[in-house]
Amino acid sequence: MNPIVEFKNVSKAFVGRNGGVQKVLDSVSFTIAPGCTTVIAGGSGQGKSVTLKLMLRLLQPDEGVITVDGQDINSIGSKKLADVRTKFGVLFQGAALFDSMPVYDNVALPLRERTKMTEQEIRAQVSETLEKLELLGHEEKFPAQLSGGMQKRVGLARALQLKPEIMLFDEPTTGLDPVMTDEIYRLFARTQKNIGYASVIVSHDIPKVFNLADQVIVLDGGKIDVFANPEEIQWSEKKHIQEFVRTTMGEIYQSCNTEGR
Ligand SMILES: Nc1ncnc2c1ncn2[C@@H]1O[C@H](COP(=O)(O)OP(=O)(O)O)[C@@H](O)[C@H]1O
Ligand SMILES: [Mg+2]
Repeated sequence: MNPIVEFKNVSKAFVGRNGGVQKVLDSVSFTIAPGCTTVIAGGSGQGKSVTLKLMLRLLQPDEGVITVDGQDINSIGSKKLADVRTKFGVLFQGAALFDSMPVYDNVALPLRERTKMTEQEIRAQVSETLEKLELLGHEEKFPAQLSGGMQKRVGLARALQLKPEIMLFDEPTTGLDPVMTDEIYRLFARTQKNIGYASVIVSHDIPKVFNLADQVIVLDGGKIDVFANPEEIQWSEKKHIQEFVRTTMGEIYQSCNTEGR
């Protein structure tokens, strides 16, 4: 199957205030298959958010090629870029809801702005999503009246309206308690199964989020390691990966897999 997103030898550096150059991505290559879940892990400042922004062309690479559905996104015009961006749904830290709009209008917004659907058609689609995400009955509430978990669900509902082929989640559970975090991940898994988009999740909630992963990308010092599944990470010979496993995945995760080895 053709990848939905591909990075080919992508490099990205920033010039710091002191004039020094920081290479955030150093000739990085990976692919994302349709319908699969990729988890991007790595310490703070290692380029996880930059990687997501490159996929949306919110940033441009210094070198290398990024394709979405086979199209080189850095060599297309603004009209085509707008089309490419409609393939993405985005849920970044904080749900980025409009405080002055009730839940219903927040969710309906992309349909009103980007489609020619009638209000009746919009109502049908929005209600269906709200039901799936267990938000029915909260349509008239404003974001400030919702719990953190509900706000994320509304953000997800809105991101799903234009039927994304790929969903990007950047630390989507920041600010949620552990119970809510579990619930949100279960909901992500259910929703993905229902809708079938590819998802890319950047998260600190390791190993929780690893349960969802078909592929794990670990960013470190500008280089990446790609693992076909979370289990594989534990058996890596690389020092920095072993360190990553020890500090983030811990004993509990390993104990599930060490039996019989
Ligand atoms: N627009 C920018 N201009 C300059 N530096 C940036 C910019 N975006 C990110 N960086 C730097 O790139 C590095 C990686 O950032 P980021 O991808 O946000 O890290 P994280 O892995 O925590 O998401 C950080 O050191 C950050 O300061
Ligand atoms: Mg980040």
